[in-house]
Amino acid sequence: MRMLDIIDAKRGGDALSEEQIRFFVDGYTAGDIPDYQASALLMAIWFNGMNSEETRELTMAMLESGDRLDLGDIPGIKVDKHSTGGVGDKVSIPLAPLVASLGIVVPMISGRGLGYTGGTLDKLEAIPGYTVEIEEDAFKEQLRNVGCIIAGTTGNIAPADKKIYALRDVTDTVDSIPLIAGSIMSKKIASGTDALVMDVKTGSGAFMKREEDAIALAEALVAIGKGVGMNAMAVISDMNQPLGKAIGNALEIEESIRLLRGEGPDDLLDLTLTIGSQMVVMAGKATSLDEARGMLEAKISDGSALERFRMMIEAQGGDGRVIDDPTIMPQASRHIEFVADRSGVIASMKADDLGIASMLLGGGRSTKDDRLDYAVGLTLDRKIGDPVTQGDRILTIHANRDDVSDVERLLREAIVIGDHAEPLTLIHRVIA
Ligand code: URA
Repeated sequence: MRMLDIIDAKRGGDALSEEQIRFFVDGYTAGDIPDYQASALLMAIWFNGMNSEETRELTMAMLESGDRLDLGDIPGIKVDKHSTGGVGDKVSIPLAPLVASLGIVVPMISGRGLGYTGGTLDKLEAIPGYTVEIEEDAFKEQLRNVGCIIAGTTGNIAPADKKIYALRDVTDTVDSIPLIAGSIMSKKIASGTDALVMDVKTGSGAFMKREEDAIALAEALVAIGKGVGMNAMAVISDMNQPLGKAIGNALEIEESIRLLRGEGPDDLLDLTLTIGSQMVVMAGKATSLDEARGMLEAKISDGSALERFRMMIEAQGGDGRVIDDPTIMPQASRHIEFVADRSGVIASMKADDLGIASMLLGGGRSTKDDRLDYAVGLTLDRKIGDPVTQGDRILTIHANRDDVSDVERLLREAIVIGDHAEPLTLIHRVIA
């Protein structure tokens, strides 16, 4: 079999066979297929898509490229969550300890930043000492002791996804339904979870800009999960503006800590509780979503979710003092106010451009080997629908360079001040 023929078949719109998909996944993982041929195939898949059998085969080939965790000896229903990626989307970070504080086991295998979206692992690495590379024994030990873990696909979990994910990130082939579905589900099946809630984002800061694509992706994810006996469901949530008020690695950890202290922000809290409630019901700890929500709120109010976060950080080698003092994380040297150039209301805020602004500051990667600046990013004072008077601060740019005129130019285009704003709905629908 030749890689050239596989590229040619997909470029011409043919469905690939199981053998062809495995040849690609195994060969690329082993280093036998070069990046340039893998990139060409990914681009052909991006253009021509994959049918449901191909998507399933891709998932299984990536899953079988590595080991599967067997969590059968850990008591209880294991419940996980995964997002398709957004701007300011840090839900996983407070969610895992929050749900675990109810005695539910949350084995979370997460990813790094993709394109303009931040990555949960990158954010957690802003905490001094925090390691995401955990071997299987330690992974299980932490689940037994702490009840939750957020780690990468290390050990040998879905190594194919790890390599393909990094290549997609720098070849503009992220926003493809089969590639996202295969990437997420190979990791999630390998992590040994019993139940999974997927947060499928739609809107300007999501890979699926159109709601119908988000629905198709959600259906593909749920079908793959159910096909392997997992209790899987998806929430479609809005990404037409950043989630919460912080974009950037350390800044998003700080916001996650504030959320678990009961200090909001409202949209982040609402989505965290919405997804968390589904997880609590799936774990059999509550019989209704309302009951589950109340239980989660109580764990925020009494401080136990925040303490669980500290335990998780320390179990992974991180400095738990970050909970009391987030400034032990890298801090930007410059804080530049970005102000309204006219009065009105914030009519729109292109979330992808705000993500790109954070990337330009050094918070995201534009090549596979870029090093991140954990300190930089944006903190928002205003969101869509908020009134502003000329000169009011809309956001603060956290930078480690003097000239941020490129970022300011981008933001001026991305944030539109008008006379009125269309109201946004955070939770669009649930697909079970
Ligand atoms: N999250 C993943 O794990 N993979 C994707 O492709 C997109 C989001």
